[in-house]
Amino acid sequence: MKRRSSLRDYTAFVWLIAGGAVLIMRPVVPSATWLMVHLVMLGALTHSAFVWSEYFTHAILRTRATPMQVRRARQRIIVLIIGTLLVLVGIPLTSAYGGGHLRSAWTIVAAGAGIIIAAIGWHTVFIWREFTRALPGRFNFVTRYYGAASLFLILGNIFGASISFGVGEATQARLLAAHLAANFLGWIGLTVIGTLITFWSTMLRTQMAPHTARFSARLFPVFVASDLTVITGALLGMLPLAVGGFAVYLLALVVWASTMWTPLRKVSLREFAPASVAAGLTWAVVGLGGVLLVIYRSSTWSDFDANVRNLSPILVAGFALQLLIGALSYLMPMVMGGGPAVSRAMNTQMNRYGVARVILTNAGLILAITFSHRPALHIAGIVLAGIGFLAFFSATKRALSAFIKAKKEAPTSATKTATDTSPSEKSQAPTAGEQASQRAIDRRWGQLQWAGSEMIGAIAIIAVVLSVGAVVDRGEMPKLLVVRAPLPPSRLLPLGTLRA
Ligand code: HEM
Repeated sequence: MKRRSSLRDYTAFVWLIAGGAVLIMRPVVPSATWLMVHLVMLGALTHSAFVWSEYFTHAILRTRATPMQVRRARQRIIVLIIGTLLVLVGIPLTSAYGGGHLRSAWTIVAAGAGIIIAAIGWHTVFIWREFTRALPGRFNFVTRYYGAASLFLILGNIFGASISFGVGEATQARLLAAHLAANFLGWIGLTVIGTLITFWSTMLRTQMAPHTARFSARLFPVFVASDLTVITGALLGMLPLAVGGFAVYLLALVVWASTMWTPLRKVSLREFAPASVAAGLTWAVVGLGGVLLVIYRSSTWSDFDANVRNLSPILVAGFALQLLIGALSYLMPMVMGGGPAVSRAMNTQMNRYGVARVILTNAGLILAITFSHRPALHIAGIVLAGIGFLAFFSATKRALSAFIKAKKEAPTSATKTATDTSPSEKSQAPTAGEQASQRAIDRRWGQLQWAGSEMIGAIAIIAVVLSVGAVVDRGEMPKLLVVRAPLPPSRLLPLGTLRA
């Protein structure tokens, strides 16, 4: 894989920046909530899952991308971007316009969804071909996770496009349930599980749990079958079937999570990348628990439709965004390479203020989601989480400058031989003291100081923003940036039976 590629490396950033812009301009953007969710999930997450599952397919199967394959991969990314753009333009148009315009808006959505499905189909063929050509290997089964995930995205896109064509309320609700099951449990779920099988212990810089390969290989058909059961139950309006499938998927996830826990217990979270991924996975657990509660508390599919949307901030901002930011924080320095000194320079920047960023992001999310019906506190939460997320962009920028600087300073092979030989250079070899302090820096470069000044700084910022929010809250703030006020408990229908 090429060390640097703007199309590969920066596309996700563009989708995220667009998502941030919609958040700020929300009052004037049609279908703003839908756009924010899909700029992150269909834009940034799908692009990254697409690109990095190809990277990990080569890495795991130990195959090298040929120049033709590199070109094809670029073409696939471009096709995916075109399809995504059409869907992101088409769907808001369907809600902004009616009548004749609606038909052309549907055509745009259908074309976009069709182009995305073509890109994903091509991607699946690539994975399948690599898998069938590869030499046997202990982790070759991981590519099955990627293949199945892509097929679920194709299903998810068909359900999504069908919703936008305007169907009855009950059908829309069931299609949405199938859409979420295919995209979250299937596309994102299987891609994340497949990747973390090897990537989690790599990020923690430690050994994986001995049972990881065995458990993950055996649980693959369970994940696929249970997700297909959820989708079938939703489409047929058979709640017990959908809930049964969902419960099996959750159980399989709990069993699989033990393979993540073992390495974490050995080394704890010492760098920003695994810390952000761990925070994301924690929100995924909250989100999946939330889905269970919504299923339990909804009495019709339409109630399920209305209630489940309240979980979007948890699943999109809490889980998906933090997972993506964590993974990219590790992958970029790793793929750009340049030698130990260059990677160290990049990682030092990627980890900077890591503790404060994780704390601000998650404290902000908790505040924004808990107080979504109290505008001032809700905005205070968005501001805090925004600081945490935006810090990723500045960390990436600093890491790229560190990369360029370190590359310039890194001795080329010519200078290296020169230095080896010149006596004067020898005399300038670092003293024992310098070596000891360098080792200390090396040891610390990846380490997050959880109990240090960053923690205090983050808590101070939270205290200030929270108190300002509370003061303004008492003064009644205009409803500017409220994403969506979830249904107050009084509006949630009584516990109990679900009618088809
Ligand atoms: C071709 C691609 C896609 C299309 C056409 C599509 C279409 C739709 C439509 C029409 C809705 C219902 C909107 C409404 O009733 O307000 C929806 C909701 C949703 N979709 Fe998609 N979608 C696509 C891809 C995805 C992907 C890849 C994901 C996640 C991985 C996703 C996650 C969601 C979520 C979370 C909601 C609920 C949003 C809310 O909070 O209202 N979608 N989608």
